[in-house]
Amino acid sequence: MDVEVLSGVGAEITGVEVTNLTAVEFTDIQKVFAQQGLVFFRDQSLDEKQHIEFAQLWGAINVNRFFAPHEKYPQIAMVTKEPDQKQNIGGSWHTDHSYDTEPALGSILVAREVPKRGGDTWFTNMYKAFEALSPGLQETLLGLNAVHSAHLAFGTNSAYKEVTDDRVGNAEVADALEDVVHPAVITHPLSGRKALYVNPGFTRRFDGWSTEDSLPVLKHLYAVAGNEAFITKFRWRPGSIAFWDNRATWHSAQNDYQGDRRVMHRITIEGCALEAGAS
Ligand code: SIN
Repeated sequence: MDVEVLSGVGAEITGVEVTNLTAVEFTDIQKVFAQQGLVFFRDQSLDEKQHIEFAQLWGAINVNRFFAPHEKYPQIAMVTKEPDQKQNIGGSWHTDHSYDTEPALGSILVAREVPKRGGDTWFTNMYKAFEALSPGLQETLLGLNAVHSAHLAFGTNSAYKEVTDDRVGNAEVADALEDVVHPAVITHPLSGRKALYVNPGFTRRFDGWSTEDSLPVLKHLYAVAGNEAFITKFRWRPGSIAFWDNRATWHSAQNDYQGDRRVMHRITIEGCALEAGAS
């Protein structure tokens, strides 16, 4: 097994078949995943059942409440864009499930059909985002919590829901979800490192702060996290897999392949409550 650590975030792992891992290979992949927060595999041949089996090695599966499920395997969320659809799913920076009290660990995304060009997924590094801040701002953030919500993206009044039509549903479930609070900087549950934990998709404001007071600071943090040097741009091929950790990364699917089809299968793994970074 070879591991190439990428300059922005993540590592590409070659020389393994995820459907046929030895115990030693699995342990090695666990270590890389814990340290890098994102692993890529290429040229894998796995059907839906094998995708589910691979996911179950990492934890219980979280069946997504909002994405359209695979017609035979509800554990798999469909991330599809048809040639006549204009809007893609997950097309701006976010980290999945921060609106849950125990946010999902991460997702395993398998490419089933990719456009001739475009449709890359960009990932950025939330350890580096935190480390790039000045010590004063780091200290301030270590004392803050942030409020996260599913309403903006998935609720009845969501503009996103409007444009993603029948691919995203259950708006009334999103409406009924209480906003949740997480530390603005977490101690990552696997690596023990400090990671910035706010995101443009689901973070509303800092706890105890108004939206107006929060937005300028959040915008600054988003600009820092969007630094090109922290980003890995993943070019998909059929059989490519990305497995990201939601607590260490953000991702954004590029919507630059109008008129072409892209079909991805996503399985999400349950996570845990998040602890604050120690100052
Ligand atoms: C997602 O946000 O889960 C979708 C990512 C992608 O399609 O590349």
